[in-house]
Amino acid sequence: MNKVIPYRRPDPGTQPTALYPDYVATRRRAPRQPLVFLPHTLSEVTGPVYGHAKPGEADHDLTRQHAGEPLGERIIVTGRVLDGDGHPVRHTLIEIWQANAAGRYFHSKDQHPAPLDPNFTGAGRALTDENGVYRFVTIKPGAYPWQNHENAWRPCHIHFSLFGPAFATRLVTQMYFPGDPLLAYDPIFQSIPDERARQRLIAGFDLATTQPEWALGYQFNIILRGREETPFEP
Ligand SMILES: [Fe+2]
Repeated sequence: MNKVIPYRRPDPGTQPTALYPDYVATRRRAPRQPLVFLPHTLSEVTGPVYGHAKPGEADHDLTRQHAGEPLGERIIVTGRVLDGDGHPVRHTLIEIWQANAAGRYFHSKDQHPAPLDPNFTGAGRALTDENGVYRFVTIKPGAYPWQNHENAWRPCHIHFSLFGPAFATRLVTQMYFPGDPLLAYDPIFQSIPDERARQRLIAGFDLATTQPEWALGYQFNIILRGREETPFEP
């Protein structure tokens, strides 16, 4: 068998704590036994390529998926997907999902009293280009209540899912917005012990990406493995 080169393991503190009691769901799902160390084999350092059909023309633009435009603050979210050596991850699929501007998901489980937007589904996908660059146009999601504790509100966020080149690079995470006052109170965000790792989940406002009279721009780079790895969501 060919020699398998394992992926670097995350540095301590840079990933969410499995048991973080303030994030109530972790009390039930965190492992109660010591973790078992699994060496990386060929199954983890390789993986299938996902996406049977190419993303459609409006898949990356969540403001053009219906007859009219969604309400809210139009934004551009762009960045690069890099591997642990800083090389671009080309032609990799990125999927996003998010609440609308009022903080409501288009989902039967979300019944909190905020309006749905008939012109916004809140799901998109895109492939990275030759340089590992992706780009979405969407609206800024609103904060929403989530019943984790008294007066619990999630900061504004966009969910991201990436497959990358291997099972070991699979990443599901959340992108946050700079200066959001709810970050300090959010046990999902705070369950990542390392401050610098937490900061890697906050997009940067970018005037160069911002388009005059059209949309604010945010940069969110995603690093799949290595020292600067983007944290997985808890
Ligand atoms: Fe969410």
